[in-house]
Amino acid sequence: MTIGILGAMQEEISPLLEYYKTYETIAFGGNTFYKVSLPNKTLIIACSRIGKVHSSLSAATMILHFGCEKMIFNGVAGGINPNYKIGDLVIGEKLCQHDVDITIFGHPFGYFSEGKIFTPTDTSLNNLALEVAKEFAIPLHQGIIATGDQFISSKEKKEWIKNEFKADAIEMEGASVAVVCDNLNIPICVIRAISDNASDEALISYEEFLEHSAKQSANLVIKMVEKL
Ligand code: ADE
Repeated sequence: MTIGILGAMQEEISPLLEYYKTYETIAFGGNTFYKVSLPNKTLIIACSRIGKVHSSLSAATMILHFGCEKMIFNGVAGGINPNYKIGDLVIGEKLCQHDVDITIFGHPFGYFSEGKIFTPTDTSLNNLALEVAKEFAIPLHQGIIATGDQFISSKEKKEWIKNEFKADAIEMEGASVAVVCDNLNIPICVIRAISDNASDEALISYEEFLEHSAKQSANLVIKMVEKL
């Protein structure tokens, strides 16, 4: 089986590459992909680069060019749910694009005529994440993740996203990867570790906790891969 693991930034995939140690480096489509050959599975790991367009491109490349049959997105997110603490993990049960706005045509925020507001993730992969988290006593929430091409660092904006989409966490790639996987019938799991609270002081927190939180997320992914 071939499993694709994406992070948006180098910090999000470095813990994986450091753990697997041996990999082939393949340049394709303006990006670099790392192929890890394990006894009964192959991993394709890549840093998509930030945002919805880059992550869609990388996800589609992993599936259509590298033949990935399951996808995991791994990285950090801003927490919206007040119960989420820095370093906690969240899996997105469903994801939306908070920056989609064709409301002038009478549609709700986050809606494209060709799509739907929320894209679900794969129940089996999510259950595996929950099972692994339970086994290793890792705090893991399940919630709604809102994605957009914006780093959210404002109380007002955060509140708006929370109220409009009932979102629990916010990031910049998950929903776009989920849309690609939904269209190509590939199971996807989006795992994020909280690095900040998306409020006015988000940047300071993000810079301080990015590396630590990224490692928490990668740690869960590594344990999941063992069971796939
Ligand atoms: N990823 C981590 N924190 C974030 C935030 N506050 N906004 C968007 N993406 C993020």
